[in-house]
Amino acid sequence: MSTDTATVEQPTSFAFSAENQQKLKGIFAKYPEGRQASAVMPLLDLAQRQHDGWLPRAAMDHIAELVGLAPMRVYEVATFYTMYNLAPIGKNHLQVCTNLPCWLRGSDEVVETCKKKLGINVGETTPDGKFSLSEMECLGACVNAPMMQINDDYYEDLDAASTAAILDTLSTGGTPKPGPQNSRKGCEPEGGLTSLTDAKGDA
Ligand code: FES
Repeated sequence: MSTDTATVEQPTSFAFSAENQQKLKGIFAKYPEGRQASAVMPLLDLAQRQHDGWLPRAAMDHIAELVGLAPMRVYEVATFYTMYNLAPIGKNHLQVCTNLPCWLRGSDEVVETCKKKLGINVGETTPDGKFSLSEMECLGACVNAPMMQINDDYYEDLDAASTAAILDTLSTGGTPKPGPQNSRKGCEPEGGLTSLTDAKGDA
C-alpha cells in the first residue's frame, strides 16, 4: 500500500468529536484574542489523532474556518511539517532518522531491517495496515544515534537485532520499551562516566 497523497480517497466532511470540542476550547484559551491562527498546529495534531493518524483535506478546511485563515495557509503548515500525514498511515508509523549522525552510526542497517521484516519500501504501508515506513531528517536525538520514532515514542541506540525485536513485539500487539535499546541510561556515556569522574569535581 502506498502513502501517495495524490491517490487518497478524501472524505467530504470533517467535524471534531464532542470530546475534542472540549480540548479545542482549551487550546484556543492559550492564545490571546485575535491570535487564534496560532492554534493551527495543535488543532491539526488533534484532528490527525481523531482521524486514524492522517489529515484529510476536509479537516484542514474545517480548521482554516475555525482559526480564520485561508485554507491554503493551513495546507502550507500541514505540508511543511513531517509530523502531519496527508494520506492514510499504518497503526505503527516507523520514522527512521537517516540524517548524517544516524547514518554514520548505522541507520542503513535499521532501514534495511524494517524493509526486510515488513516486506515494504520507504513510503509504503503493509497490506494489513499495521506498519508504515518513512525516512526522516534529524529528529533531535543524535546523541542516541541511530534512532527511529514510532508514533509518539523514540527508540534509540538501535542495531539490526534490536530493530527486529521491536518490530516483533509490535507485530504481536505488544509495546516495546522506548528509549535506548542498549545498556545506556538516557544519553549518559555507554560504560560509565568519561569526564567529571572526581567526586569532588563539582565542589
Ligand atoms: S541525526 Fe538522527 S537524530 Fe539527529
